[in-house]
Amino acid sequence: MKPLKKTLQHIFIAVALASGSSVSQAETMLDPSRIKMALQTAYHKYKNIKEGANANYIPILAKVDSNIFGITLVTTDGKVYSIGDTTSEVSIQSISKVFTMARVIEESGTKSISDNMGVDATGQAFNSIVAIEQYKGEEMNPMVNPGAITATSMIKGANTDAVWKTIIDTYSDFAGRKLSIDKEVYKSEAETNQRNRALAMLMHAYGRLQGDAIEATDIYTRQCSVSVNTTDLANMAATLANGGTNPVSGKKVVNSDNIDEILAVMATAGLYDDSGQWLYRTGLPAKSGVGGGILAVSPNKFGIAAISPPLDAAGNSIRAQRAITDISNALGGNPYKVIPK
Ligand code: DON
Repeated sequence: MKPLKKTLQHIFIAVALASGSSVSQAETMLDPSRIKMALQTAYHKYKNIKEGANANYIPILAKVDSNIFGITLVTTDGKVYSIGDTTSEVSIQSISKVFTMARVIEESGTKSISDNMGVDATGQAFNSIVAIEQYKGEEMNPMVNPGAITATSMIKGANTDAVWKTIIDTYSDFAGRKLSIDKEVYKSEAETNQRNRALAMLMHAYGRLQGDAIEATDIYTRQCSVSVNTTDLANMAATLANGGTNPVSGKKVVNSDNIDEILAVMATAGLYDDSGQWLYRTGLPAKSGVGGGILAVSPNKFGIAAISPPLDAAGNSIRAQRAITDISNALGGNPYKVIPK
């Protein structure tokens, strides 16, 4: 935007605010020029940061280009803003857990989650055996691996193919385009997921997981291998922010009544051990994945996502955390923000 035009726009906003005109503060904060400025500022601030390292316990993730860095924000009125690399795809990994949870609630209600694996933070790593042992498979949540594999096992379907179709169709509707598996990621994780199989067997032993634990782990491994870019993730977040209807495609994906509980679990456990720190800085329900993606939801306002593979010690993308924090705070995205009368 030309400097004069921008200045005039800012004057307009200031006058509108001062005069108490019909331009609400939320609308002003989500003005297109403000959003573009926030994205540009964060992107250039963090573009050259080299901290952290790709996940390597799934061997193929270590080979993903560490320089990928992109950000997309989608407003609940369906406007899409992007900067950086928004075409490179990474595996969705743990971010998938949110959308499997959404489908389970759609099919079986919110109580099925609180009854089956719980909605509490574990205080342990996302693949902790101790977290299962301490409460015999209860008092955890669907964002950690044992809860997530149990949630996957709860998706209804006559056979494995039918369950998988429900999962990938749900993710695709959230993203607004047909998503698919990265077969190399699936193969790499399937060859090395002995720990997840152990978690699933233990959940089965405690009667939390019904059906075949190894088959549930395999479907969970497929869901983690789904390939996404920042636009896909931001659309998925924006669908939650918009009450379950994709704001770009207009398709209703899940019932609006179920969104509160999904966001509550994301806020409690979306960034694992660092969920409290994240909430303290942003107030946003969010979810990270070891592929380097993070998405976050500003209810009724926007969904935002960033991808950058290098992770911190807790397993969360460093650049994605910083960029989303800055952008959301610049745009008034924190739902806990109280605006004095
Ligand atoms: O099951 C796993 O270990 C991976 N497929 C997903 C873990 C993950 O993304 C944790 N994220 N921060």
